Amino acid sequence: MPPSEPVWLVGAGPGDPELLTRKAERLITEADIIFHDALVGPAILDFARPQTELVSVGKRSGRHSKDQDDINVLLAEAALAGKKVVRLKGGDPSIFGRSTEEIEHIAAFGIPVRICPGITAASAAAASGIASLTLRGLARRLTFVTAHARKGETIDLDWTALAAPDTTLAVYMGRAAAPTIAQRLIAAGRAADTPVMIAVNVSLPDERLIRGRLDALAFLTATISDDDPTLLLIGEAVCKRLSSCSAGLLPPKKTLMQIS
Ligand SMILES: C[S@@+](CC[C@H](N)C(=O)[O-])C[C@H]1O[C@@H](n2cnc3c(N)ncnc32)[C@H](O)[C@@H]1O
Repeated sequence: MPPSEPVWLVGAGPGDPELLTRKAERLITEADIIFHDALVGPAILDFARPQTELVSVGKRSGRHSKDQDDINVLLAEAALAGKKVVRLKGGDPSIFGRSTEEIEHIAAFGIPVRICPGITAASAAAASGIASLTLRGLARRLTFVTAHARKGETIDLDWTALAAPDTTLAVYMGRAAAPTIAQRLIAAGRAADTPVMIAVNVSLPDERLIRGRLDALAFLTATISDDDPTLLLIGEAVCKRLSSCSAGLLPPKKTLMQIS
């Protein structure tokens, strides 16, 4: 008989524990075992009971502590052993989180799966920058895109579609590819002065927001470490000039750089 207790894929949000949903917090406190990403920090794992087993299956910029296949197997094994299993993922599990592979593997054993959504990095970055991801009349589309490519592969994206001027791009895992992204978007017709906001460690105590223009993206991202999760927001909604971006409203703890 497969277990009746579901495996929960839980969104941990961008890092600030106050951005966890109440449901996520409850599931974390009830879990017997939590398999968590590297981006899920101690402030969130602290909600777990002392007896809860915490297993890091973190993946960070190419350094995989466990292969996806191994993670799938671990999740199913723990559930079949009768444990309450939480798979805790940064942001929202449905956005660049490889959830489908986990769901399919677990479901193949007849184990039920549930998802608890989380706040994705793009929403948190816009919130930190006191910005909107859409803008009436100017940014009618919002595209979540990953610029992650396997070693030796080029980034295979529809640059013409992404260059449409009424689109806000939220680029996940795009720091290393930032020079290529800027060059390909501009070559496909996106204006060189399109505003960009680079959000590093969003919602965490060492958060940094860097604003500038698309043609400076390579320069703006050059000194960001591979270890710091970084999201690129590109588009008119992100704002051209600080003065028109309510920058004065930013809370004092935020670091904001404007380069134009
Ligand atoms: C594997 S993807 C997972 C995305 C996640 N599921 C979400 O909804 O935010 C990891 C990427 O998300 C972005 N990211 C996640 N957390 C972030 C944070 N706190 N600050 C900036 N970017 C973040 C970065 O681009 C990072 O490389």
